[in-house]
This record gives sequence, structure tokens and C-alpha cells, in this order.
Amino acid sequence: MAKSRRTAPDMTGRRKTKTKKLALMGERRLGRVLITGASTGIGAELAREFANHGHALVLVARSKDRLDALAAELHAGHDTDSIVLPADLSNAEELVSVVETLEQRGIEIDILVNNAGLIDVGPFADAPPERLQQLIAVNIAAATALTSLFLPGMRARRFGRILNVASLAGFQPVPTMAVYAASKAYVLSFTESLAEELRGTGVSVTALCPGMTETGMVQSIRNATPAVAWAPSFLIADARSVARQGYTALMTGQTVIVPGWPNQIAATWSQMTPRWITRTVTGFAARQASWLRRDA
Ligand SMILES: NC(=O)c1ccc[n+]([C@@H]2O[C@H](COP(=O)([O-])OP(=O)(O)OC[C@H]3O[C@@H](n4cnc5c(N)ncnc54)[C@H](OP(=O)(O)O)[C@@H]3O)[C@@H](O)[C@H]2O)c1
Repeated sequence: MAKSRRTAPDMTGRRKTKTKKLALMGERRLGRVLITGASTGIGAELAREFANHGHALVLVARSKDRLDALAAELHAGHDTDSIVLPADLSNAEELVSVVETLEQRGIEIDILVNNAGLIDVGPFADAPPERLQQLIAVNIAAATALTSLFLPGMRARRFGRILNVASLAGFQPVPTMAVYAASKAYVLSFTESLAEELRGTGVSVTALCPGMTETGMVQSIRNATPAVAWAPSFLIADARSVARQGYTALMTGQTVIVPGWPNQIAATWSQMTPRWITRTVTGFAARQASWLRRDA
């Protein structure tokens, strides 16, 4: 397994090369970025990061008020040109209408960030089926549909970048997060396949695989699994730092980025360990967490 391509080099001498590469790419073209799930969390931080580098944006999520507030903040801070397109991406018609609106306005998307996502924590048998359908619709179907709708234009222009937000959970099965982990395994595999298919076309695809990151999502995991509240702070990343690492990996054409050394160790361990061992370990951890939940 190509370990060095999967994990991010962090505090190494390659930093200078990266900065130089980024500068070169910035000179060549900035491009308009569409970010899904931009209303909060990692998506909002990615929007701030792109704005900071001078990109024009299209912000998509359901919460129009939050998107409007972010667009105003970015305009005031960076003079960013942001288009706000509220949409529920679990609804195929609303998703297509985002793309049609951009086409009607003659706006091309050079960088697509498939970040919108939701999680479900707890025994699969107890999960409301409609919640699972929604999770699959947003985490898998919407990311796939948006990629297939924007990719032909990028390929024709011989320029494009796609950032898919996967997760550390995508590297192994995670009992009590079965559908979420499977959805992120899909995103990771999808990204790696596309990255190879598109080699030499001018379009690159990157999977950002964060571990636990301080956002509304991690708060919902804490609520469902109080044991997570005991996780040491070094295991919980800051959304801004995750966004920065995702941006750098995207703009330097890395295929997979796992932010943070504890997560890089976990991802490497999962890839090098026989599958039956990883699922036994994650199963044991999930049973301990549910035992603690019953006691809480
Ligand atoms: N936080 C973590 O620990 C962690 C770890 C690994 C990976 N991730 C991944 O990072 C990504 C961002 O998550 P986050 O942690 O920033 O969570 P978050 O704060 O809950 O943000 C999720 C975003 O997705 C949007 N969204 C959810 N359902 C949507 C729908 N039906 N249509 C359109 N937008 C929708 C939300 O906006 P609205 O509610 O306004 O629609 C929000 O902007 C997700 O893909 C997640 O799986 C997170």
C-alpha cells in the first residue's frame, strides 16, 4: 500500500515545496468553488479558507440564514463574491435545481467540495429507516450526482478540482455507526477510483478524511455516546485546521489526506491489519461505549 500517498506529510521539509506549488497554481487559475454543507462546521471553515485565498464561492446547505450570514462575513472580510443557493440535497429535484440555476446564470464551477453530511449513532436495528435513507441520499447520492454533473465541464476545460469529505470512519467498519462508516468508505473508494481515472486530464480528486472534529456533528456523537465526552482533547481537531489541511491537499493534488498524527496512525493501522481484527477491535470498543451509555 502506498503509505506516503495516503497520509499527509505534516511538519516536514516538504512544506516549502507545497507553498511554492500552491503559489504557482494560484497564479494559473483561482476558479469558483461550490461548497455543500457550507452553513456550519467544516464546510463553513472551508468557505473561509477558500475566501482567504481569493476564490469566488457558491454556498449550498438548507439553512439560508446561516449561508447569508457567512456570505456577508466573507464579503466584509475578503470582498468575496458568494452566491447563496439554499437546497436540501437529499431531494434530487432541489439538487438539480442548484446546477440548473448556475447554468442559467452562466456560472462555471472549477472546484467542487462535497462536504454536506449527516451521521446516525446507535444500534442499526433502532435507527429510523427514513433517517438512514436521508444519510445515504446526502453522504453518497448527492456527492455522486454533483460530481457527475460538474465533472464533464471540468474535463472539457481541462481544469478542475474535487474535494470529497470522507472520514477516518471510512477506513474500517464501525459498529453503532454502520451506515455512516459505510457511506464514508464509499466516498473514500469513489475518490480513489476517480483520481486514477482522471490522471492526466487536468482534474484532480481528493478525499479529506478527518477524525473527530469539533463541530455540531461531534456534539451529536457526544450526546448519543457519553463515553466520547471523555476523549482527550488532542483527539478532537479544530475545524479550521482540518479545513486548512484539506485546502492544501486539494490544491497540491493529493489523493487522500488524513489530518492529524493520531488519525494518521489509526488509518495506517486499519489498512495494515486484517479486516477481522479491525472489526473485532471496533466491535469491542462499541460494546464498551454502549455499556457506559447504559450506566450513564
Ligand atoms: N465532525 C467530525 O467529527 C467529522 C469527522 C469526519 C468527517 N466529518 C464529515 O465532515 C463533513 C461536515 O461535517 P461537520 O462535522 O462540519 O458537521 P455539521 O457541523 O453538522 O455540518 C454538516 C453540514 O451539512 C449540511 N447538511 C446536512 N444535511 C443536509 C441536506 N439534506 N442538504 C444540504 N445540506 C445538508 C448542514 O447544513 P444544513 O443543516 O444547513 O442543511 C451543514 O452545513 C460531513 O461530511 C461529515 O461526515 C465530520
